[in-house]
Order: sequence, then C-alpha cells, then structure tokens
Amino acid sequence: MADHTPSDRLVIFGITGDLAHKMTLPSLYHLERRGLLTIPVVGVAAQDLSDEQLWAMTREAVHNVEGASVDEQVLTRLVERMTYVGGDFTDAGLYTRLAAHLTDAHHPLFYLEIPPVLFGPVVEQLGAAGLVEGARVAVEKPFGTSLETAIELNTRLHQVLDEDQILRIDHYLGKEPVQDIAFLRFANSWLEPLWRRQYVEMIQITMAESFGVEDRGSFYDHVGTLRDVVQNHLLQVLALVLMEPPGAGEDPIGDRRLDVFRAIRPLEPEDVVRGQYDGYRSIDGVAPDSDTETYVAVRLHCDTWRWAGVPIVIRAGKKLPVKATEVAVRFRKPPAFTWGDRTQRVTGHDDVLLRIGEPSGVSFGVRVKKPGVDEVEPEFLSLDFASTLGDLPSPYERLLHDAMVGDHTLFPRWPSVEATWRIVQPVLDAPPPVISYEPGTWGPHEADRFTRFLGGWRNPV
Ligand code: BG6
Repeated sequence: MADHTPSDRLVIFGITGDLAHKMTLPSLYHLERRGLLTIPVVGVAAQDLSDEQLWAMTREAVHNVEGASVDEQVLTRLVERMTYVGGDFTDAGLYTRLAAHLTDAHHPLFYLEIPPVLFGPVVEQLGAAGLVEGARVAVEKPFGTSLETAIELNTRLHQVLDEDQILRIDHYLGKEPVQDIAFLRFANSWLEPLWRRQYVEMIQITMAESFGVEDRGSFYDHVGTLRDVVQNHLLQVLALVLMEPPGAGEDPIGDRRLDVFRAIRPLEPEDVVRGQYDGYRSIDGVAPDSDTETYVAVRLHCDTWRWAGVPIVIRAGKKLPVKATEVAVRFRKPPAFTWGDRTQRVTGHDDVLLRIGEPSGVSFGVRVKKPGVDEVEPEFLSLDFASTLGDLPSPYERLLHDAMVGDHTLFPRWPSVEATWRIVQPVLDAPPPVISYEPGTWGPHEADRFTRFLGGWRNPV
C-alpha cells in the first residue's frame, strides 16, 4: 500500500546537470510560485559548491527559462530553501554529510537525475547510511536498456526499497495533454461509445522531431529511437488511448495501462521499419558504420475485446519535416449514401486528433457539404489547449509535486515497465536493417505498407 505521507525534504542528486538546469529548477520555481513547494531542498552533485553558488546557479537557470517575467520574491523564497552537499556519489562520506542535512526529516524524497549506471550505487549507499526508511526515490529514464538490464536494475533497487517507494519518471505521463487523453475519452458521452473496434479503423501515433541527434551522438548511438521514445513515452501514451475505464483500487489508471501492455503482442521483425537519416554517421560520437535507428515505425496488435483486429501504428523519428506529436484515431467510413437517384461518395477522414506536442490540443474531423455542390469534404474543429484553458503546468512541475505527495498514478510501476520491454525486446534482439532517409522527409517509404490500405499516414502539420 503506497504511503501518501507528504515528503518533508526534497533531495536532488544531479542538481548541476543539464536536466536540472532546463527543467527541474524552473519547475521548482513554478511550484514555489503556486505555493506547492513547502519543504527544504537539498542539492547534491559531484562539484565542490557553496550554498551561495547553488543559489546563483538556480537564479540563472530560472532566468534562462522565464526571461523577464521572473518574480524575484518567489525566486528568493526558492533559493532560501536550498542547501548543497557535494561529493562522489559512490563515497560513503557523501551520505554521512547528507544525513546531517536530514536529521529532522522522516520522509525525504530522493530524486535521482543522474546517469542510470549510478541508480543502483546511490540507492545502495542511501540504504547503507540508513536514509531510506520512510523515504521515496524517484529515478529518471532510462529504466534499463533491455528487458534483462531493466530486470537487473529493478532487482538491485528492490534489495533496498519496496516497490511503493520507487517512482519511475516518464515525463510524457506528466504532460497535461497526455493526461487529457483519459479525460477526453471518459468525460464526453459521445466519444466513448465510438472508441472501439466496431467504429475505429486504425490508430496512429506520430512523434516527429525536426532536429537531429546533434551533440547527443555518443548517448544516442547506443540507444536508438525504439528505446529512446517508443518503449517508454509512446507506449505509455498508447495505453491511455486504449485502456478500459479505470475503477476502484490502489492504482486504477496504472492497472488499466498494464492490462493494455499485457494484451499487446511482442513485436515481430515484419512489424518494424527502422530508418537512419543521411548524415547521422558523421555526428561526433556516432560509429562510422552505425546501425542505430533515428526513425522507427511499428505495427502493434492489441488482443482485447475492444481492440482486437484494429491496426495500431506508431512512428517516431529525428530530422522529419516538423516537430509534432499526434495521436490520430481514424474512424471507419460510412457507406456511400443514396438519395433518390444520386449516390454521394464519402471522401476524406473524420479522424480525432489528440495533439500532444506544442501547441497541444484536440481536433475533431467532420465531413461537411461543399458549398454549391452535393459533395462532402473533411474539415476539422480544433481546440488549442493553451489559448483556451490558459498556461499548462510543465511535466516536471506535475511529476515533482506528485512524487512529493506520494501519488503514483503518473509513474509506471515495475510490472508495466517490464511489460513494455517485453513488447520491444524481440526487435532489440533481431533488428531489421536500417534504411537511410533524407533529412526533412517522412522517413523510409517502406513504412507506408503499414497504412497503405487504410488511407495512409497522417502527417502532422
Ligand atoms: C527524451 C528523448 O526522452 O524525449 C529525446 O531522450 C526526445 O530524444 C525527448 O527528444 C522528447 O521530449 P519532448 O517532451 O520534447 O517531446
């Protein structure tokens, strides 16, 4: 049973890193501004820094992201909560010094935004220093690089922590428009009855990034698109699209997502197309004969009563024409309709589009009559979330807050993580060859076979 006692200390390992600079520190500022950060924050990193240097770094990070709109009083309140402890993460002395900052803390939250090879060693040191009782530990991605390494990591963490103490971060679940998928589905009476195989012809998810791998060559070349964004982010999004309505229970949404993962068949090589953009191999840190994919398209089968037989396709890639992430739910076409001696053909698609990237929103396809002629054409009714609903909290604001109050809903539990690795593992073991594609295109044409007889891929604009 998860412990919902609010944390009384936030300890951030890796506070000087890139992620902290871009995401965590600005998110803490927003939580402070909204009155949701009420506890002391301890930053931990390898460097030898004073508290004042941490404060200056925090100010700079917040200013970099927020620009001129920073409320200095809020920022001062934030830095005044912060202290720093420096040292080698594998040295027991660091944890003795850290313990001195936690003497009056009974429920610390340790947030590990550090290289994944250090998750095990840091958790073991926290355990050895007697710091994990009553604590929660949030770990960044990736959680393993394969089914086997994920099991190893999990076993190692479980030697020190219970499952209920572990929060595995997938920042996609922290995105407002991703959470909105479940709300749109279950809060609108007209949508839910149609959301099933009897009416849905196909589901597509496209995650397009217009930029390349740039300075992340040595990281990316060992990872590839399937591990980087499909096994985690996009399968989690898909689970929200496919899941049954949540009910009672300790983790109702997590359990329904898990049902979906367990019903998806492990990928077969013929259900996968891997691509690599021209020029990738000359990036610093990338092997000259690299076989790593920068694009992947997969076809999935979800064997539930709701979805059996419905083609589900996901594609993701770097150096595609736009930056956009979109779920398209394509409905079956009505038959041609005959009025008297005239037969109207029904053209186009009345897809529902869930736009998860920026600008996020939802669009509903409707077929309308073309003016002056008896023909239909497809149009979209669109809602832009930010302009309609106001500013959306960032994923890290939401996730850090939920971690502090012990709400596990947006953190995949081990059975889900294991199940998603099981889906992709056959392709990691026997990957089909990569096919090259021109930067600025939609990737290899070979992926068209997944959608050819269903109206083709929907390219986000
Ligand atoms: C990260 C991946 O997890 O997600 C990156 O490592 C990817 O390669 C990023 O660019 C995308 O996240 P977002 O929130 O910008 O869509």
